[in-house]
Amino acid sequence: MTRIFSGVKPTGHLTLGNYLGAVRQWVAADQEPADALFCVVDLHALTVEHDPARVRRLSRQAATLLLAAGLDPRRCTLFVQSHVDEHARLAYLLECTATDGEVRRMIQYREKAAAARASGDGVRLSLLTYPVLMAADILAYRTDEVPVGEDQRQHVELTRDLAVRFNQRYGHTFAVPKATLPVVAARVMDLQEPTSKMGKSGDAGPGVVFMLDEPGVIRKKVMRAVTDSGDGGVVYDRDARPGVANLLDILGACTGAEPAALADGYSGYGALKRDVAEAVVELLRPVRERHAELAADPGTVERVLREGAGRAREVARPVVDAAYRAIGLLEP
Ligand code: TYM
Repeated sequence: MTRIFSGVKPTGHLTLGNYLGAVRQWVAADQEPADALFCVVDLHALTVEHDPARVRRLSRQAATLLLAAGLDPRRCTLFVQSHVDEHARLAYLLECTATDGEVRRMIQYREKAAAARASGDGVRLSLLTYPVLMAADILAYRTDEVPVGEDQRQHVELTRDLAVRFNQRYGHTFAVPKATLPVVAARVMDLQEPTSKMGKSGDAGPGVVFMLDEPGVIRKKVMRAVTDSGDGGVVYDRDARPGVANLLDILGACTGAEPAALADGYSGYGALKRDVAEAVVELLRPVRERHAELAADPGTVERVLREGAGRAREVARPVVDAAYRAIGLLEP
């Protein structure tokens, strides 16, 4: 059976980008006969300046939101990364497999390290080793497929390289995973800055739609989205018209239509924005409503996470033990 693993980092409120790029694929995978594990990767939230109480709150909220979005704990395993020691145990072996040069090349490291330096904060060492921990997250479960958005593709490529290298040096231990991306909306852009990714870290961002935003807030953000100058009407051109292309991508992802074909149906930006706003409001409405119900019952979410961690440990433990033996460490 195909093993699927993916995760989300509790560094901010989950966005429409997280939903369209990743979470929606997870819910679809959960309906298939696959063995799927989904994880709130809280250790990764400690790689940049953080507030402990906020990370705790956001971790709980992310888990609740994943259930609200439709993950069914009877069919998949939902858990919190720090509850399963195997991730950190394996990360060290993979640090002994990766090279300094290959992790320094990671685009996200370069961007986030530059941002940390610019704001006068030190760059945490864990920001550099982050993709190695991510590789451990994936390889500990002998994962076949990793459903992610475009921005994580490079990290999954590194994971593949590490799996192949480890297997070649020490004997076959890991499955070699591949990233699976959604056809549309693999990279949802910021509504105010359509050349940058819609990211959850910039919390108050007027260009970021959060999964829990009220309908009125979503409408306002979409109606104020930056569109492009030029009077060529509504055309799909990611390079020349990134703002409009982003709106068409979002509408395509919400409706299942092909973004470029949708452009033909509009003569002006106003009507397009109104349709995008309504499509997003209706897409997220059931998730927000279900989230409110689940948030009122934290015991259920805690139970799901406890059981999920138990199952995850059972899967990861023998894989990580096998890696410890293969690399030359004595059995205790
Ligand atoms: P994170 O928390 O930044 O994002 C979670 C998922 O959402 C996708 N995503 C997007 N997709 C489309 N458009 C966007 N604007 C957008 N923003 C985010 C991401 O691609 C991701 O799939 N390093 C990972 C978390 C992680 C992980 C893992 C993922 C840690 N270990 C193991 C898979 C497997 C991250 O920071 O995702």
